[in-house]
Amino acid sequence: MTALKSSKEQLIQEIRDLKAQRQALILAHYYEEGDIQDIADVVGDSLYMAQEGQRAKEPVLLVAGVVFMAESAKILSPEKTVLLPDPQAGCSLVDHSPYDKYLAWRQKHPEALAVTYVNSSALVKSITDVTCTSSNAEKIIQSIPPERKILFGPDRNLGRYLAKKLGREMELWPGACEVHVLFSARKLFELKTQHPEAPVLAHPECDEVILESADVVGSTSRLLKEVKENPARTFIVATESGIFHQMQKARPEAQLIQAPAEGSCACNECPYMKMNSLEKIRNALRDLQPQVELPPELIAQAQLPLQRMMDITAGRSPEPWPTQFSPVSV
Ligand code: 13P
Ligand code: SF4
Repeated sequence: MTALKSSKEQLIQEIRDLKAQRQALILAHYYEEGDIQDIADVVGDSLYMAQEGQRAKEPVLLVAGVVFMAESAKILSPEKTVLLPDPQAGCSLVDHSPYDKYLAWRQKHPEALAVTYVNSSALVKSITDVTCTSSNAEKIIQSIPPERKILFGPDRNLGRYLAKKLGREMELWPGACEVHVLFSARKLFELKTQHPEAPVLAHPECDEVILESADVVGSTSRLLKEVKENPARTFIVATESGIFHQMQKARPEAQLIQAPAEGSCACNECPYMKMNSLEKIRNALRDLQPQVELPPELIAQAQLPLQRMMDITAGRSPEPWPTQFSPVSV
């Protein structure tokens, strides 16, 4: 145990030294393991990671997250070296939205504007008008002229939730997050009966029936804010378990109950986020590999929707909306 502890401490020291040597900034998502969140310079939701990556002065960004987050960092800062400790760290929403099929969908509705969740590939972003995250999605949808038809993808649950909340009709792509769709409505109902005083917090990637039972629906940062500010002593949380680390730090006395899935699996863990480790982070900083590499034309095309999102979020005027979809080959 002592030997194990000291090797972990040694690893953390190596990461600190390499980070300084490489002038690197470590950005970690809330779903990463606690040890990774603790060594990061920036811990946040996907929007905050993108904003801080773009603002960073450091020439090297290490993204402790998944591929789409590292690609967004590279697209927004092409001049920086972007490291991703495990390039296999994908996302089921990316897998559910292959470029060819997404392109065919867009071509079927050339008059529509496409709002695409950042949980998508760089190629899909290149045929998108504006991206969004779960924390700015409402603002992004509201910035679109009411007469314009909207295609929203690839997360159907987030899309349905937004359409209902904002009273805005949208054509939805049928993708879903393999982690968030596993929460059981039956077990959640039982939990609520046992803890009637506990607010239910859910990420909008959850199924509609879970969102309908929730008191607060929001991004990871929104759910964390609720735990910090709501005086309740017990919370039921329907999102990936990594977020418990910051929630528990903020409210050590609070009881946080994970919304359960059917059966007894640990399916509330994102297998992609959990591919990162302290060893892989040390190796990436030591070797300056694996790096995110994208063709310059793809970066240029995918930058437009990401930058529109950043501008709308910050209250700046975005590039004007196109009147028709006209794909450029990538
Ligand atoms: P947030 O933007 O809310 O952090 O969500 C990212 C994500 O991948 C959720 O599954
Ligand atoms: Fe993708 Fe779901 Fe994992 Fe988030 S939790 S990265 S949406 S698979």
